[in-house]
Amino acid sequence: MKYNGLKGMEDILPPDIAAWQVIEAAARDIFSRYGFQEIRVPILESTDIFIRGIGEATDIVEKEMYTFTDKGNRSVAMRPEGTAPVVRCFVEKNLQTLPSPQKFYYSGPMFRYERPQKGRFRQFYQIGAEAFGVAAPSIDAELIIMLKNLLEAIGLSGLNFEINSIGCAECRPAYRQALLDFFGDKLAEYCPDCQRRYETNPLRILDCKIERCGALRKGAPIVTDYLCESCRKHFDDLLSILNAFNVPYTLNPNLVRGLDYYTKTTFEVTSEHLGAQKAVAAGGRYDRLVEEFGGPATPAIGFAVGMERLVTLLKEKQSIEVPSPKVFVATLGKESELEGFRIVETLRSQGIWAEQSYGGSSLKSQLRRADRLGAEFALIIGENELKAGKAQWKNLKVKEQGEVAIADITALFAITS
Ligand code: HAM
Repeated sequence: MKYNGLKGMEDILPPDIAAWQVIEAAARDIFSRYGFQEIRVPILESTDIFIRGIGEATDIVEKEMYTFTDKGNRSVAMRPEGTAPVVRCFVEKNLQTLPSPQKFYYSGPMFRYERPQKGRFRQFYQIGAEAFGVAAPSIDAELIIMLKNLLEAIGLSGLNFEINSIGCAECRPAYRQALLDFFGDKLAEYCPDCQRRYETNPLRILDCKIERCGALRKGAPIVTDYLCESCRKHFDDLLSILNAFNVPYTLNPNLVRGLDYYTKTTFEVTSEHLGAQKAVAAGGRYDRLVEEFGGPATPAIGFAVGMERLVTLLKEKQSIEVPSPKVFVATLGKESELEGFRIVETLRSQGIWAEQSYGGSSLKSQLRRADRLGAEFALIIGENELKAGKAQWKNLKVKEQGEVAIADITALFAITS
């Protein structure tokens, strides 16, 4: 019986994994300079936190969640995103008592039952960052700059930063009404999804990818024309900081995002090289969510990058170095094999990647294996060498060779590493 992986769930194998590790290492490095600390929250959470956090009328909650009833008769869901679980944890563990601002990052798999296509999976990975406790726009700018620095650190520049403000509880109702008035005129001509969104969340009509809906909504009211004074000032101040730091951005008044928790700033980083699924990262402010989850009123903002999409871009841009062993120890005869085993263990304890031949095969086939692994050096120990306390070495890259006393092997490779 042969089994296949599930649709939309990918295996990530070497050599691709090297690109993943480059991104993960860069994120750890950059985020820590900004004071973000790693947090690990469970994959499985109570379904309610996503309904409450992301919103009942969103695509994620309506159609895409992996939800099931566990053996204790609780409805649980495999997290479709990381913000709601981090906020649940923030409130549950009273993290507001830590020095403010509290800055966290996380990485791991998310699950959405979407139709798989290029760049869209049912299990996909995000690295996300969330900052709690600051209402000032300087933290919005800090996050956007941190994201830009991460993308540049892995060699991706020239990506498009799209920014918008979708207002707050004070100004959104007037905008919502203006949209209802506008869409109401020709509602029957919109797609069935948009007709439903008209009832549940008319802002989402702005995000519909269907061409006809796009044409119909030309001339729709623009959210930034409806911002209250405080949202307007927040947005203007954010844009001035971004200007001061020469962060190139595009204003996109249709960037309403598919999750309901956002207030004020929303942003997305897109690339033209990715086809239809062009967002590599996205985020925004969610000033009310902590309170909605039962915590103290706490402004917050965050983003998440989509790992698979970043990996695609990274692989297009540069070839990722595939790691290979420094030394391959080839041996002939039982005693040499044991000595070879000792040598690889000593080298490994010195931090050097060393491989052994696992006995039995001819020297030729052992050296072929060393080559296939991409080893830089081969060490050859036959019975005669063993008696003389020596090994032959070959540099497989530049075809040099020589002899070394077995006692000096670690010193030799410590110098050449
Ligand atoms: P999101 O826009 O749903 O936001 O996802 C963020 C990123 O995850 C997307 O820009 C995309 O790169 C990647 N992504 C989403 N769905 C898929 C998929 N099915 N397959 C592959 N990649 C995908 C959030 O998840 C928010 N929690 C971001 C956030 C954090 N906002 C505030 N804090």
